[in-house]
Amino acid sequence: MIKYNLKKRILTKKEIIRLLNFFNKINPKLIRNYGSNRYSLKKNQKQMRQAIMIFGSKMNKSSLKELSEINDILDKLKKIIIKLTKTFSTEIDNRIKNCKNPKFEIFGNIVKANKNYKLDPHTDHPSFLISAIIPITDLESSSTCFYEPINDSDLLFKKNFQPIKKFRLHKKFNLKEGDILSWLVDKNSWHGVMGKVRKDRLTINLHYKLHTDYIKNNFEYETIKYPLDKNSALVKSFLYLDE
Ligand SMILES: [Fe+2]
Repeated sequence: MIKYNLKKRILTKKEIIRLLNFFNKINPKLIRNYGSNRYSLKKNQKQMRQAIMIFGSKMNKSSLKELSEINDILDKLKKIIIKLTKTFSTEIDNRIKNCKNPKFEIFGNIVKANKNYKLDPHTDHPSFLISAIIPITDLESSSTCFYEPINDSDLLFKKNFQPIKKFRLHKKFNLKEGDILSWLVDKNSWHGVMGKVRKDRLTINLHYKLHTDYIKNNFEYETIKYPLDKNSALVKSFLYLDE
């Protein structure tokens, strides 16, 4: 069962408006195509998500300079993520029990999903420990959902993105701007977006994860796995995180 936490209105209306303005006027050079699509995209289909990185170990100077305008909001988000590590501490400890001297980082993006974007059930990369989403625009046409596999088969774990017909809906969220939905990332954390996005959708996607350098130094990507049972094959479908 997926373990999650929902908090209402952690960002104020004023902060939401500032984030919207920030995204709309930022230097286009800082906007890049955003993860996961490469695994679910059909040939010749264009990237449907763009993002501005707001947290991560690979931030460059010009990004940091532009981001200084919303530093107070970023500080607030950082504190929220740190608090969540306490909420999920038992489960995180279990996930990383075989990691020696693990190092962590917060990774985050403001993400724009274009009209018609679809996101099939997936679990997120095994280096992620906590994932969270905060809507900046109304998500009315595209609810974030948690799913449960109908059959807990090995086949399911060979690939991350899976057709929706293999799942039953566990919970559907009608998140409002400024709410935060967070969850523990593990082999049970199947989630996605129900329905096609009918209008552009802006969210903050936050992750608490094992540090990229720690992973590079300690793992072959194939060996990072969820609570260390049967699904090692899962990570092969996303060997290279598009970060
Ligand atoms: Fe995800």
